Amino acid sequence: MTDQGFSTADIDTGRPHPARMYDYYLGGRDNYEVDREAAQHVVDLFPDIVPMARGNRAFMHRAVRFLAQRGVRQFIDIGTGIPTAPNTHQIAQEVAPDARVAYVDNDPIVATYAGAHLLGAGGTGFFLGDVRDPGSILGHPTLGELIDFDRPVGLMLVAVLHFVRDDEDPAGLVAAYRDALPRGSHLILSHTTGDFHELDGDAGEARDVYRDRQATATLTLRSHAQVLDFFDGFALVEPGLVQPPLWHPDEPVPSDEELAHIGFYGGVGVKR
Ligand SMILES: C[S@@+](CC[C@H](N)C(=O)[O-])C[C@H]1O[C@@H](n2cnc3c(N)ncnc32)[C@H](O)[C@@H]1O
Repeated sequence: MTDQGFSTADIDTGRPHPARMYDYYLGGRDNYEVDREAAQHVVDLFPDIVPMARGNRAFMHRAVRFLAQRGVRQFIDIGTGIPTAPNTHQIAQEVAPDARVAYVDNDPIVATYAGAHLLGAGGTGFFLGDVRDPGSILGHPTLGELIDFDRPVGLMLVAVLHFVRDDEDPAGLVAAYRDALPRGSHLILSHTTGDFHELDGDAGEARDVYRDRQATATLTLRSHAQVLDFFDGFALVEPGLVQPPLWHPDEPVPSDEELAHIGFYGGVGVKR
């Protein structure tokens, strides 16, 4: 079930793309020279990006497992990223083999790899969609085939909303998805923040790489209060909105000094 409108001609290899830069931070190989160059420039200026990306991915794994253990059997993963095992369906189906996952991303390269890595197991689908267009995503036939909106859904907005600018109304977008979900649905959300770093030095320059290289999306860092606003209408699960390694850790928690390098927040909420 790939998007029929997709062709490899849609892949823009002339500009760095966040999905392929993130793949580079995670140690993946699904990136082009233009991505590696931009991503390595970010790493040189801001080495913390690597533990941040990996800590975020590990948070996502624990949060999906948590939802599956709570009985959630269907997930909408928007901003999927280039497949990196384990992916959402592998985690959820480990707990519940009948779990279904609709994957959505706006990068054609993610579609290229989706066939081999996301769609083999059954119960999964992928389509190209933009988080800024909830109507198209919620009305997409692939979503309709996989997701029953009368039963709780796990909505995943993991490391994607920082690519939505303030003037694109990210809180309004989250509210539009929330309103389509039945009560008892969950939101898994993570987001980069500038709360832990001085942003007038190299860290600020690293953020500007996304803009200066004309990457296909800019990066907006948000404070704890701003990210918390995205959970409007959801009750946060303990321990609330925290740095990813502190959310239901399954390994020793990093020291305060290590945590000071993790400019990310993650949390899980239940729709009231
Ligand atoms: C940093 S990766 C996160 C991947 C995965 N969610 C994770 O946390 O491991 C961000 C993903 O969001 C996608 N993305 C960026 N802007 C988007 C948009 N407007 N709509 C949909 N996806 C978008 C990128 O293509 C990329 O795959």
